[in-house]
Amino acid sequence: MGLFGISWATIVLSIAVGYILLMFLQWYLKFRRTAIVLCKIPGVKTEFLFGNSRQMPGLNEAAFEWMFKNVTERPRLSLGWLSSFLPMVNVVHADTVKVILKSSAPKSRSLYSLIMSWLGEGLLISNGEKWFRSRRLLTPAFHFDILKAYLEVKNRASSIFVDKLQAYADKEEYFEIFEHACMFSLDVILQCAFSYKSDCQTAKMKQPYVQAVWELNDLLADRFFKFWLYPDFIYYLTSNGRRWKRACDLVHKVAENIIQERKQTLISDAKKGKETKCKDFLGILLTAKDDNGTGLSSAEIRNEVDTFLFEGHDTTTSGTSWTLYEIARHPDVQDAVYKEISEVLEGRDNDNILWEDLPKLTYLTQVIKESLRLNPPVTFIQRVTDEPMTLEGYDIPVGTTVNVVIVNVLINPTLWEDPLKFDPDRFSPERNDERDPFSFVPFSAGPRNCIGQNFAMNEMKTVIARIVHRFKLELHPTHKVERQLAATLKSKDGIMMKAIPREKL
Ligand code: HEM
Repeated sequence: MGLFGISWATIVLSIAVGYILLMFLQWYLKFRRTAIVLCKIPGVKTEFLFGNSRQMPGLNEAAFEWMFKNVTERPRLSLGWLSSFLPMVNVVHADTVKVILKSSAPKSRSLYSLIMSWLGEGLLISNGEKWFRSRRLLTPAFHFDILKAYLEVKNRASSIFVDKLQAYADKEEYFEIFEHACMFSLDVILQCAFSYKSDCQTAKMKQPYVQAVWELNDLLADRFFKFWLYPDFIYYLTSNGRRWKRACDLVHKVAENIIQERKQTLISDAKKGKETKCKDFLGILLTAKDDNGTGLSSAEIRNEVDTFLFEGHDTTTSGTSWTLYEIARHPDVQDAVYKEISEVLEGRDNDNILWEDLPKLTYLTQVIKESLRLNPPVTFIQRVTDEPMTLEGYDIPVGTTVNVVIVNVLINPTLWEDPLKFDPDRFSPERNDERDPFSFVPFSAGPRNCIGQNFAMNEMKTVIARIVHRFKLELHPTHKVERQLAATLKSKDGIMMKAIPREKL
């Protein structure tokens, strides 16, 4: 028997239902207050339940046209709804982006929680104290002197890449550039960050790790627009959710192997009384101690390795592939790049790029930047406001999700003249001062900018210079190239091109 003749089960159930209703009411009132404030921001008409999520015409080239139309109509900021309950402010202008990226607004949980099961709370996803400690710890791994030493690895990996292209050239065959750029970038990050040698560039089979990363990339983009799949317990019931889990398990195993191998080296070095000199990224992670003498936990190390393995190769794959595509598409640009490289390498008996060559490759740098502008590897990032702010006179309440739509900032017609035109001259040194730095944000900006920015630029300059010095690139005449939105920018059916040895021209 319970209380006043009511059974205990009924009492417990009533309290539980009452609690849930109260929580819902609390959430609804907060949501309503926020929505009333945010609704003043202009946006596209929404659809019941789905908001604007079904208006984006796929994740393909048509999506880029749709985004360009949006940024042309609302060039500073706009309101979008991922569902009727998920408002998001899109910032697309240097002035509005600056406010967000300079603020302490943390990474939002809605986007980044989707990759949490893959990358964990590594540098990319963590916030607050945890992020600050990791950033401070890992910054030395990108010090000027260390980057200088990495150039040798990048040249070695470029030589393998160039030899592979030579084999295609000998047979006069077309090749798909993303595939090869991906293996090159993976080779580089494995060696530079983890001192891990692999035969990934020359192996006959596609690496299972790479296959898994590509799968995760596609699955993530697909899930982003399906808000009903956001809770993990629902997602894992779907076949895509199970694929996600399998791919995550595989990439974690790869990271674990890398860590274990290095730990063994550290132990055997210590036994031999040898001091391990290697201060690469993994060396720093394994030996770092905070002020209390405590090192990172195994989980923390794994999260950082997963983060750097992914961020360190997938983004540069995209950047390198799209730049080579733009170079092949614009013969005049290709000639100018070749001329510059030939002048820099004049009189040398090999085409290795030296550290002091990098600042001399000014036109190539302009070309890479212009390609990153039109084909940004990371198309958008997200923050959630942790204090009230005002954007363009609109109040933005605490807890609002803000999308920094990088791809739109980079083609915003109020920031860039003739924005869809490929024109490397807009990055010429004399025009640099004209531009607000927050209008060119492929690497983001502010305190949470890309830690690997210089590493990536050096890598792209080296490999592209080596390839263009050796070959003239031509696109396949009938293969259609279409961009595809994924976690990083991909090409829907790849990019087919041909390499013609310069001595045959
Ligand atoms: C073309 C190449 C690259 C592009 C376009 C790029 C772009 C970006 C962007 C836009 C962010 C900000 C992410 C956010 O706010 O959510 C970021 C952060 C980050 N990137 Fe890169 N990235 C590139 C290469 C690299 C490389 C080579 C590495 C590592 C070796 C790297 C490691 C990271 C890390 C760890 C963060 C998080 C930094 C933090 O929050 O403190 N990236 N990158």
